Amino acid sequence: MTTNPAPAGAPPAPEPAETDNRRDFLMKVGIGAGVVALVGQAGASLRSLVPNVSYDAPTTVKLGLPGDFPDGLKFLPDQRLFVFRDGRTFHAISAVCTHLGCTVRAEALSRTEEKEVAGKPLRITHRFLCPCHGSKYKGDGANESGPAPKPLAWYELSLAADDGQLVVDLAHEVGHDFRLTLA
Ligand code: FES
Repeated sequence: MTTNPAPAGAPPAPEPAETDNRRDFLMKVGIGAGVVALVGQAGASLRSLVPNVSYDAPTTVKLGLPGDFPDGLKFLPDQRLFVFRDGRTFHAISAVCTHLGCTVRAEALSRTEEKEVAGKPLRITHRFLCPCHGSKYKGDGANESGPAPKPLAWYELSLAADDGQLVVDLAHEVGHDFRLTLA
């Protein structure tokens, strides 16, 4: 059997060992590039899960001027909050059920009650019911029946210095003796 001679001027054919080395080298380069691409892609995917900006709701919220609140109860769905007014005195009770966080609804009592709560008088006009698992709360937020493990939270109210609006601090729970009484 005869082999064709290399054309005149062509580089000599590589030796078999040299060809294997080159193939190994190219394979390693290919694998390395693939790994780098995968790591980069995974990093980008993980990075995309972390927002650049915090979209958490602010904890201190202006609610409106005191005159915007009727005597009795006003529900604020954005804050999931009940604001109660009795003349010049205000307090705020969370509408977030202490069982699993559903929004409780207020049910007007057939007869208003005057009670002492945490050593201070409180006019009770409503009680609260959770539609999810049936927890019931008294008008001061105390858990009465159902799976709710503790009372509804009360939050601090204050007046904004700049424009006189009512302000709630949803990061600051207060005791049931809290009242904001305007001068
Ligand atoms: S979330 Fe209110 S009773 Fe379960």
